[in-house]
Amino acid sequence: MVFIMSYFSNKIPLNPEKNQLLMQLQSLKEKNVPIFDLTHSNPTLAGFEYPSEIFQNFQLPNYKPSPRGLVEAREAICEYYSQKGRIISIDNIFLTTGSSESMSFCLKMLCDFGDEVCLPSPGYPLYDYIAKLENVKPIYYSLKKQELHWRMDFQSLENRINHKTKAIVIVQPNNPTGNILTKGEIEALIELAFKNKLVLIVDEVFSDYCYENDFLHLTSNHAPVITLNGISKIAGLPQLKLGWFILEGNQEFTQTAIDSMETIADTYLSVNTPIQMILGQILENAGSIQMQIRDRLTKNLKRFKGLFGNQKRITYHIPEGGWYIVFSILGCIDGDEFCLNLLTQKFVFVYPGYMFDFMEEDIFVISLLTPEIEFNEGLRRLMDFTMWEY
Ligand SMILES: Cc1ncc(COP(=O)(O)O)c(C=O)c1O
Repeated sequence: MVFIMSYFSNKIPLNPEKNQLLMQLQSLKEKNVPIFDLTHSNPTLAGFEYPSEIFQNFQLPNYKPSPRGLVEAREAICEYYSQKGRIISIDNIFLTTGSSESMSFCLKMLCDFGDEVCLPSPGYPLYDYIAKLENVKPIYYSLKKQELHWRMDFQSLENRINHKTKAIVIVQPNNPTGNILTKGEIEALIELAFKNKLVLIVDEVFSDYCYENDFLHLTSNHAPVITLNGISKIAGLPQLKLGWFILEGNQEFTQTAIDSMETIADTYLSVNTPIQMILGQILENAGSIQMQIRDRLTKNLKRFKGLFGNQKRITYHIPEGGWYIVFSILGCIDGDEFCLNLLTQKFVFVYPGYMFDFMEEDIFVISLLTPEIEFNEGLRRLMDFTMWEY
């Protein structure tokens, strides 16, 4: 093994430890045991009806390589933002195959070997892997619970910044905590980035799914900002693999960034042409799927609050947006064991918090996108298990 390892990069663990909980889930599914999976987050398998108009003009066009993406696709993106009152220049948009590729391109452009990027914790693990694959060191700043919602911990963020730091990543609404930025947080972030010559990379993939508080875009004409988005959440179409990023900030930064990104994007030319040609139709018709998703999220959130709202043993912070809810079970000292027992005894699957970088053993995450019947029965079983059997 030692000899074989010399062939490979250390970036990828060669013998990753198998997660017992996930193995058990897979084994039960393979045996066709019905599972109440409260982590459903694939919209294409969640019982929604997709508008057929999307594919009406789908055709096999000639190949027109374009590093930024076809003009008609970028115009459609400008239109998507203009309906939200946000004016974006078509020249500042680059299409990608999704947020993962957008983040890779950003890190390629901004970082050299060993540079650092600040990521939110708790958070979705995707950007940790991408940073490592790009030879960039992920450093974590904290989000903290505050009264009703989660908020940024600026002290923790400032403590992480040093001469190697190149960017701060913000996910809003954050996955899984669902917090969105307040006006004060946006101003503080812009000032912090400007003062320390850092780029703000803002993942807005869940921004169309907010509950009560208004979603505020983080934009600036002096601190550099790169906004990531895509149709996997906007239109519930992850299988079409289309995302984008927008370069903003002072003129000097954006011009140099556009030139640099042209070189990177031209090297890959990764986005397929037919999808770019129907992006306008996809975005025009996104409202119908968004309505169904919002309806599901709202009903499931209401159901969750109704069942657990008065329970002393289960506490939670209400998400301001996104598809997930985080909750704690008082007295739980082994999150993995809890999930394994819940799965084997009640056939209910929930995520233990460590999968999103929570340190606490008593924290769990579920998806509000789960189909309602499965969600309701899964919650009922979770409640029974928590109250009487655990
Ligand atoms: C916060 C966040 N960003 C990005 C992604 C991936 O998006 P895409 O499908 O555009 O790569 C996900 C996937 O769930 C996510 O949760």
